[in-house]
Amino acid sequence: MSKMKEIGVAVLGFGTVGAGVVETLQKNGALLGERLGLRLALRGVADLDVKTDRGVAVDPALLTTDGAALIARPDVDVVVELIGGTGAAKAFILQALKLGKPVVTANKKLLAEHGEEIHRVAEEHKTEILFEASVGGGIPIIKALREGLCANRIQSLYGILNGTCNYILTRMEEEKLPFDEVLKAAQAAGYAEAEPSLDVDGHDTAHKAAVLASLAYGCNVPLNKVSVAGIRGMAAADIAYAAEMGYRIKLLAIIQGGADGVEVGVQPTLVKHSHQLAAVSGVFNAVLVKGDVVGTTLYYGRGAGRAAAASAVVADLADAALNLRAGGRRRDLSAVHAKTPVAFRDPGEIVARHYLRFSMKDQPGTLARAATVLGAHRIGIDSVMQKEAAKGAAYVPVIFVTGPAQEREMAAALAEIAAMDGVVDRPAVAYRIEDFE
Ligand code: HSE
Repeated sequence: MSKMKEIGVAVLGFGTVGAGVVETLQKNGALLGERLGLRLALRGVADLDVKTDRGVAVDPALLTTDGAALIARPDVDVVVELIGGTGAAKAFILQALKLGKPVVTANKKLLAEHGEEIHRVAEEHKTEILFEASVGGGIPIIKALREGLCANRIQSLYGILNGTCNYILTRMEEEKLPFDEVLKAAQAAGYAEAEPSLDVDGHDTAHKAAVLASLAYGCNVPLNKVSVAGIRGMAAADIAYAAEMGYRIKLLAIIQGGADGVEVGVQPTLVKHSHQLAAVSGVFNAVLVKGDVVGTTLYYGRGAGRAAAASAVVADLADAALNLRAGGRRRDLSAVHAKTPVAFRDPGEIVARHYLRFSMKDQPGTLARAATVLGAHRIGIDSVMQKEAAKGAAYVPVIFVTGPAQEREMAAALAEIAAMDGVVDRPAVAYRIEDFE
């Protein structure tokens, strides 16, 4: 019997996901061997801390603090980068690619900020970078875009891509709790970082949106072309009013492409209760992709965590190993970064319906004055809900659901209303409504 070919694997970063990858290789390595016809052999795990127990038994001889030396070993064929960040991770990835070794990473921040350079170095050295775990954890969304949907022009992509935000929004709605209280509880339960801004201010979702948009439209997506708004400080009242009107608020990445360019944005968005994305609760992620041939497809699963991310990383390892055995890449990833620059839509031109909450002076005529300004900016009103004033309160919540309007017109109208005498006591809360049409 011929000896099964071995592909030597180096893992950089022995944190949560690194330990999950080692564990998955131990648990399902033999099964993978049967499926692939080759063996993924762990050659070493590099981390600055090789003392901490990671909850997985590993031969101490495999542990090293010298990542560069591990990458350079001749018996290492594929490098897995799970350090995170843009410092050492980037240096190690470039080192491996320059040696012609494929790299598997979960590092969306690095891809979003330095993807163009990393893809170019991979191209120059005729190797590849695989990044399934960077978006949607265990959901094979990168493979779906790159392979399963490659016959399609992608028309739009909507993603719930941050488990922390989705968990916070779910609990705020279900338990009618304020943002700060739920964030604290999420931190205590380990669902949110002690420094939560990457998640709650929308940046993690923006990194993931940039990665997905670059695949969907074959272009580099500079982060300054991604408009970003997070969920920090969202009022429980808006979640409750939206629910009364038949909507749930989700932090959505919205990516759309058309003749006038590509739109990439992240913002709290109202979604009809009956829509599939509204049913995605807690830490789960989902991505809805519309292709011009296939129509609508939906992907759902755990967006983070040790096992989900390890599942995606090991799938990439399998692809890298198969490509190495075949003697080349099966896909030309230069398509990820097309030679022709793509135009990005001016956010001001985007047309959407909106949820608006005004804190309006409880006095005859104020509602009409606000509505007149909206009308002057060609913003129609689909529905209005006014709450009775609390006893003695001078201002009352008035909620408008508008018809489709240009963002630029909406911003101008809201600024005008905020500046009027005796109409509102603060700027309106405004969220986009997505109809998925
Ligand atoms: N912090 C991310 C989230 C997981 O909450 O979904 C890592 O991508």
